[in-house]
Amino acid sequence: MSDRTWLPEGVSLDKPSPARMYDYFLGGYHNFEVDRTAARKVLEGNPDAPLVMRANRAFLRRAVAFLVQQGITQFLDIGSGIPTVGNSHEVAQRAAPDSRVVYVDSDPVAVRHSEAILRNNSRATIIQADARHPDYILAHPETRRLLDFDRPIGLLIVSVMLFVPDDSEAYRLVSALLEPLPSGSYLALTHGTYEGVPAEHVRRIEELYARTTNPVKLRSRPAIERFFEGLDLVEPGLVYVPLWRPEGPDELLLAEPERSVNLAGVGRKP
Ligand SMILES: C[S@@+](CC[C@H](N)C(=O)[O-])C[C@H]1O[C@@H](n2cnc3c(N)ncnc32)[C@H](O)[C@@H]1O
Repeated sequence: MSDRTWLPEGVSLDKPSPARMYDYFLGGYHNFEVDRTAARKVLEGNPDAPLVMRANRAFLRRAVAFLVQQGITQFLDIGSGIPTVGNSHEVAQRAAPDSRVVYVDSDPVAVRHSEAILRNNSRATIIQADARHPDYILAHPETRRLLDFDRPIGLLIVSVMLFVPDDSEAYRLVSALLEPLPSGSYLALTHGTYEGVPAEHVRRIEELYARTTNPVKLRSRPAIERFFEGLDLVEPGLVYVPLWRPEGPDELLLAEPERSVNLAGVGRKP
């Protein structure tokens, strides 16, 4: 792409960025050769990668729609990514126009592009922040401007915690983000799992992402379940992404859900 006005100054193109690789897998244009080369290596190991990402994205849409049905009209979307089809604010505001969304991402390209599409949307915003600093995110003036912490909030952490390889840090920051949310709030989370995936494939993915700006760690089912500690998991519980309230028989990977290599769940804070 020759028009690079969206590329923030100072972004290094020496290393691939998982946000831009994800954009490439989803068919977006906000990626570079360094990202595409890394993404193609992932594809060599797992040709399903674009399907996996699309299935994950479809879960995000279903989860936001479900939460709006439960009366949730405010969302904190951590690691929201480079905007693509079916962003949280679009899904939420279509169903409930007053919905408010605070996006958070550490990737400058994701942030710049989100700012551009949210310019005329007074009920949605993006903060550039690292999820490892929940206090900064929670205290940020934009978070406080848009979200009312006296009313339930939907916390979205979709395909992000795998970028926090240290277990205790990952659990600490999810519970820190949940802590100030009132009863009736929800957590929607997906996470890559190594269960059912050949060990060689897991090693390859972790090795490839180790060379990017954000290394990854896939986790076991019990380790992923732990993110929901203290919450009531809504039906159908923690399941492969396509099995979480599919909209119909055509849901992506529904016939072979384990190919999604990601578990999804939605939990309610009692
Ligand atoms: C796989 S994408 C998921 C995007 C979106 N949540 C979705 O499911 O479609 C992961 C996103 O998390 C962001 N990310 C990774 N580590 C992060 C961190 N420590 N803090 C904030 N964002 C992070 C990446 O920049 C990327 O945009």
